[in-house]
Amino acid sequence: MAQDDLLTPVPLPRLVQEGLAKRFRLIKLWEEQDPEAVLAAIAPNLRFIATGVPILTEGVSRPIDAAFLARFPKLELVANLGVGYDNIDVAACAARGVVVTNTPDVLTEETADTAFGLLLCAIRQLPQADRYLRAGKWLDDGFPLTASLRGRTMGIVGLGRIGRAIARRGEAFGLKIAYHGRRPQTDAPWPWYEKLEDMARACDILMVAIPGGPSTRNLIDAPILDALGPQGVLINIARGTVVDEPALIAALREGRILTAGLDVFAHEPNVPSELIAMDHVVLLPHVGSASHATRDAMSALVVDNAVSFAAGCGPLTPVAETPWPSRGQATQ
Ligand code: GLV
Repeated sequence: MAQDDLLTPVPLPRLVQEGLAKRFRLIKLWEEQDPEAVLAAIAPNLRFIATGVPILTEGVSRPIDAAFLARFPKLELVANLGVGYDNIDVAACAARGVVVTNTPDVLTEETADTAFGLLLCAIRQLPQADRYLRAGKWLDDGFPLTASLRGRTMGIVGLGRIGRAIARRGEAFGLKIAYHGRRPQTDAPWPWYEKLEDMARACDILMVAIPGGPSTRNLIDAPILDALGPQGVLINIARGTVVDEPALIAALREGRILTAGLDVFAHEPNVPSELIAMDHVVLLPHVGSASHATRDAMSALVVDNAVSFAAGCGPLTPVAETPWPSRGQATQ
């Protein structure tokens, strides 16, 4: 049987490539001498694309935007490596009846662990204490006292799967929890704030776990940081675009918030030199899900989505914007 073509515009991890190659004829666009010629040849009949967010594709970025999608009239599936899918214009996919899948669940606990580790590091200044010891400064004096997690309230921006896993950890650590999102969740036992600014005022840790993309760009801006206040801690494990970086730098520099723990940045892998120069913030190179086990599970889920879809069994983890079966199919 002739194998179906599957286009991978960006370098995907070895496990994804090997898994997909068992079922599809893989077209690795990033390896092609003349990508335009290859695209022109395959575009009219292409049904499947697999791609990924830049942190998982060796930093190679190829947004799946409306213009790119328009080249593939028969496209049915875009399988994304990554729980976030701000690299894909999902509205354009939905309009064309193209299903998008992502890699949720398998990375939830890992990412929540990272978020909590980042919070502990930022508030207790643990990387700074490590640097202090290595520099031999302990021989002269003990490390300065730090702020504490005790008695704090953590406001979670975006109570999705990862937000909830962080909330559970917060409760185990004795934190009060609140959340902000589009609507209250009936099964969430924590107070919901309709207005982010009100929540920022009511809490002293702001944990950002909301998807990136145009609707959340610069959501955390100067007024929100000021509402968080001078004892406030900002943790971002979502997308750098959610935070107004210059506003954050100003707030940190002027002591209008206490500190920040950041796993993501607006222009990765470039991190503003102002942040790098600040010793009291904790900066990670986008490692939220970056363990062998979790990354392998994410890779396997991309393959499983594509194989299941191509076999006519539907996607395993379609994103909310492109549900399956679609309303049209469900009523048929
Ligand atoms: C990583 O950032 C992801 O979206 O999975």
